Amino acid sequence: MNKVIIRTTEEIENWRRNINSEINFIPTMGNLHNGHIKLISTAKNDNPNINLVSIFINPLQFDNKLDLENYPKTIDNDIKISFSNGADAIFIPSNEDIYPPNNKNIKFLKAPIELSSALCGLNRIGHFDGVCTVVYRLLNLIKPKNLYLGEKDWQQLLILKNLILKEKLNVAIKSIPTQRDFDGIPLSSRNVHLSKNERKLIRFFSSELLEAKKNFQQEKNINLNEIIKKLSAKKISIEYLEHLHPHTLQKARLEDNISLLAGAIRCGKTRLIDHVFLMKRRPIIAIDGPAGSGKSTVTKLIAKKLKLLYLDTGAMYRALSWLILKENIDYKKEKKLLNIFKDISIVFKSNTNSHQDVYVNNYCVTEEIRSQKISSIVSKISSIKEVRKFLVEEQRKIGESGGLVAEGRDIGTTVFPHAELKIFLTASIDERAKRRKFDKNSKDLQEIDLNTLKEFIKKRDFEDSNREISPLIKASDAIEIITDGYTINEVVDKIFNLYNDKIPKETEIK
Ligand code: PAF
Repeated sequence: MNKVIIRTTEEIENWRRNINSEINFIPTMGNLHNGHIKLISTAKNDNPNINLVSIFINPLQFDNKLDLENYPKTIDNDIKISFSNGADAIFIPSNEDIYPPNNKNIKFLKAPIELSSALCGLNRIGHFDGVCTVVYRLLNLIKPKNLYLGEKDWQQLLILKNLILKEKLNVAIKSIPTQRDFDGIPLSSRNVHLSKNERKLIRFFSSELLEAKKNFQQEKNINLNEIIKKLSAKKISIEYLEHLHPHTLQKARLEDNISLLAGAIRCGKTRLIDHVFLMKRRPIIAIDGPAGSGKSTVTKLIAKKLKLLYLDTGAMYRALSWLILKENIDYKKEKKLLNIFKDISIVFKSNTNSHQDVYVNNYCVTEEIRSQKISSIVSKISSIKEVRKFLVEEQRKIGESGGLVAEGRDIGTTVFPHAELKIFLTASIDERAKRRKFDKNSKDLQEIDLNTLKEFIKKRDFEDSNREISPLIKASDAIEIITDGYTINEVVDKIFNLYNDKIPKETEIK
């Protein structure tokens, strides 16, 4: 494809009409640096879509006239950088193109108060309204499939995600983690204004944030005053330094596993922002749902795609049931059960087919625990209070440092109530019965007719949802996905996108 430079709205509308491929859109204000290069090249490597970079210094988002006048303009170099790093087209509109005078069709947007009044919004009145207005205008002209943005401007990212939801725009936001320079400071077009001494100060500021992140992993708490004291001792002028919930931008709560430490400082005439995510443990995804909802298949694929540990809690209940059956233990007697808990070890190990094997006391039970015999007692055994208490504790131990996706029936409500993403996967009884019947792994079930299978499923649902301890219910903050009519890959993609939307990419960097 020929690389093109498009300069007017008329041209972009024409170009758009004649393109029959999806578009990745990378909006910029020019003066491109390695952060922008990473955005352009990530988009290029993600998919075969056409990559369109826009370069437009949006006057509406500058609250300070001097800042606008001084904003670095390096258009020839930007064109070279864009094309040599994967842009197929560059859109360089003028002010009149984006904001034609007397055009009543231009929608001037307001950013949501809850998100725009915190952090940078405190001192940059109207800034986020300007960002929303220009991005909305560009998205309407370009109609991309994907919008690529940097996490460096985390607040902007949240506000634009909100805009897309509110305006029901059909575009997916893809983000990349903050890109840092050799000395640790975040890449920004405004860095060119920094003197040597100012750069030293911002380096100190960024390294304090990175240090706080490291300490938080050990200590699980943060002392903002101490950081402020250290910055003040270096005569760094702090505009704000806040510890917040990463999505609501309200004060961080004790139970927040991932939180945001964000600050803005002034160095001479330049204002710089930086942030880090503080993490008590790596993220956890909880996937709950009834039998036959596709939970296991989907959870395994998600674990593989996101490189997370896969925890099949159902297999743990089955493994315990297997031992009870094998040793002929009277599980109704509490003492007998407590004796098993003392000795049992249930361990998951990856096998050569990149699947997981389940071991009970070093004996591989992967296949045996799927038998109809085990299926017929597991629901009973898993409704025993002591059993649940014991296995929930074991599951929490496995999830202590996070980085896992767990499937079961009480993950989001009981085992990991603070999981970062909770999914409730379900499907109609008809669909689930059909899936069970054609499940290659459940040979016993293939013999049973569809109506009987439906009755089995209804009975199991009833037992699971009505048991006294940890019944199968959707956690209030879980996202329900009804899988009827969706392929497995479509469901996996949905969960993958929800994860990317909730979990900052930066948390994946060790
Ligand atoms: O982040 C930026 O560079 C700008 O705010 C954006 C998104 C290009 C809108 O002008």
